[in-house]
Amino acid sequence: MKAIVIPKYGGPEVLQYVDVDKPSPAEGEVLVKNHASSLNGSDFEVMRGAWAARLGGPRRTKHKILGTDIAGRVEAVGSGVTKFKPDDDVFGDLLYPGGYGAFAEYVCAQEKVLALKPPCMTFEEAATYPESGIIAIQSLRGKRQIQPGDKVLINGAGGGMGTFAVQIAKYYGAEVTGVDSTMKLDILRSIGADYVMDYKEVDFTKTGERYDMILDTVARRSLFAYRRALKHDGMLIIVGGSRSALFQAFVLGPLMSRIGSKKMGINPINMDPMQDYEILSELYEAGKVVPVIDRRVPLSEVPDALKDLEEGQVIGKVVISIEHDNT
Ligand SMILES: NC(=O)c1ccc[n+]([C@@H]2O[C@H](COP(=O)([O-])OP(=O)(O)OC[C@H]3O[C@@H](n4cnc5c(N)ncnc54)[C@H](OP(=O)(O)O)[C@@H]3O)[C@@H](O)[C@H]2O)c1
Repeated sequence: MKAIVIPKYGGPEVLQYVDVDKPSPAEGEVLVKNHASSLNGSDFEVMRGAWAARLGGPRRTKHKILGTDIAGRVEAVGSGVTKFKPDDDVFGDLLYPGGYGAFAEYVCAQEKVLALKPPCMTFEEAATYPESGIIAIQSLRGKRQIQPGDKVLINGAGGGMGTFAVQIAKYYGAEVTGVDSTMKLDILRSIGADYVMDYKEVDFTKTGERYDMILDTVARRSLFAYRRALKHDGMLIIVGGSRSALFQAFVLGPLMSRIGSKKMGINPINMDPMQDYEILSELYEAGKVVPVIDRRVPLSEVPDALKDLEEGQVIGKVVISIEHDNT
């Protein structure tokens, strides 16, 4: 089968589109004929060998094949699998608990990371949800549940996760401010953002506005700057960002949250996301939360598409459409 292999850390040029052995499912695993995947910010961070990726493999990633999101049809199941059977259509995120390998024609996934795909959702649409949509909804409905009327700011709002977060926050009745670069602001308005800001022009922590919730997918600031922009009982949720911002959120966040009324920290990860898949599927069917798809590319073009994502040339999601010789 064809796959995008990562032999070492580096730029998109290190990635190889090659033939590898088709996997077979172990106990508790499902073999999925993968019809679509999508790119995430975490893919180029793993490709480059960002610090978090190197914790699992200092010189090269321990995972041979890149990619985390899958959407496809069950081809076979390993022993002990009870939830799925051949010909079921599924989608899921291999990232938790620590898996990769989605940029491939076939994938073996643990049963517990997969959900049934709603029949009205295409594989390409389904492939946009697992990492971006699930983390967005878990962040907004985590320790502090989003409330109607909340003032919510989403930083990195034009990215894969951000475009889901804007729509989810609007669905729950929040007043939403989306922050991203100029070329993404019109889309943010079109998916419901009440206010938009260009991060290259305005520092949202210095405008004097205060928010009930700040969701930052690309955190770069000190916790003291965020604290300035939070309301009395507001909450900062950091999903991704610089090493220093993540370190502060992890170490200082719980401390600062304890001594003050403002809460700050890393997004909660619910390892049982099935309820979130159900909610997102219902919101899709109701037309309330739909994927923002920038473009669809074949598997062989993953390296170029990752380059564009890293350079900020993507609004929302890039979908990988996976062709099979026998389809
Ligand atoms: N905590 C978790 O559970 C978890 C799991 C998976 C992923 N993540 C993290 O989540 C992060 C976001 O992922 P994603 O897939 O949404 O990435 P993405 O699609 O690349 O989106 C990031 C967005 O942020 C914008 N941006 C860049 N710098 C910015 C700044 N200083 N201020 C405001 N916006 C800025 C980018 O626009 P421009 O490039 O045009 O500037 C882009 O639109 C990644 O860092 C990833 O590691 C976290």
